[in-house]
Amino acid sequence: MAFNPTPRQLAALKAAVFALSLLPFFKLVWLTASDQLVEPLQYITRATGDWTLYFLCITLAVTPLRRLTKWNWVLKLRRMLGLYAFFYAVLHFTTFLWFDHFFDLAEMWKDVLKRPFITVGFTAFVLLIPLALTSTNGMVRRLGGKRWQWLHRLVYVVAPLGILHFWWMKAAKHDFSQPILFGLIVLALLGVRVYWSRAKAAASTRAAA
Ligand code: HEM
Repeated sequence: MAFNPTPRQLAALKAAVFALSLLPFFKLVWLTASDQLVEPLQYITRATGDWTLYFLCITLAVTPLRRLTKWNWVLKLRRMLGLYAFFYAVLHFTTFLWFDHFFDLAEMWKDVLKRPFITVGFTAFVLLIPLALTSTNGMVRRLGGKRWQWLHRLVYVVAPLGILHFWWMKAAKHDFSQPILFGLIVLALLGVRVYWSRAKAAASTRAAA
């Protein structure tokens, strides 16, 4: 039988996911404050980039998990997980802007245009902004379910751009193992959606015939 938490259990689960998702952030704060990082800029940029990608993958995994397990309640965690992807993306971008460019926007812009892997990362980040801004119940109502859903399909573009950004960065070092692994994860998470939507279209064609 599918696990179906009571409202109290669900609230506890949400609180646990909220707290666990903050652990990487607190780890970074602690490592920085206790002066344990040899190259803090590089470490923080990489760790926040990694966690943005992890949360994007976890958020994309919610729908397949719900379909495979019939745990409908996991949908109630999706918004929080998506917002954590945005939270780590903001930290990632801020680290870059702060430590790489000391908040010099003109310099940052030059860098964004000059280095293709940063152009791609920046595009992914910009596309995440409308998703975060429209994540409230009020915005869902204001936009209407259908339009909101279409807008939030932008995440299907953001995740592959994140992979391309990662791939391009690692290409300079000829080290593709992690971009390939995450590329396959994103491909599977998007591929299963294409498969299900085709199966649904085929079933409705059969029903109509
Ligand atoms: C959705 C958006 C983004 C995702 C998913 C993402 C993800 C990543 C990942 C996974 C890495 C590699 C970490 C590692 O080596 O383990 C990385 C590195 C990096 N990212 Fe992003 N990123 C995003 C947006 C951005 C933006 C907006 C910028 C700056 C404008 C940026 C700048 C960088 C830089 C400079 C590095 C390399 C640091 C180094 O060479 O050590 N990224 N990013």
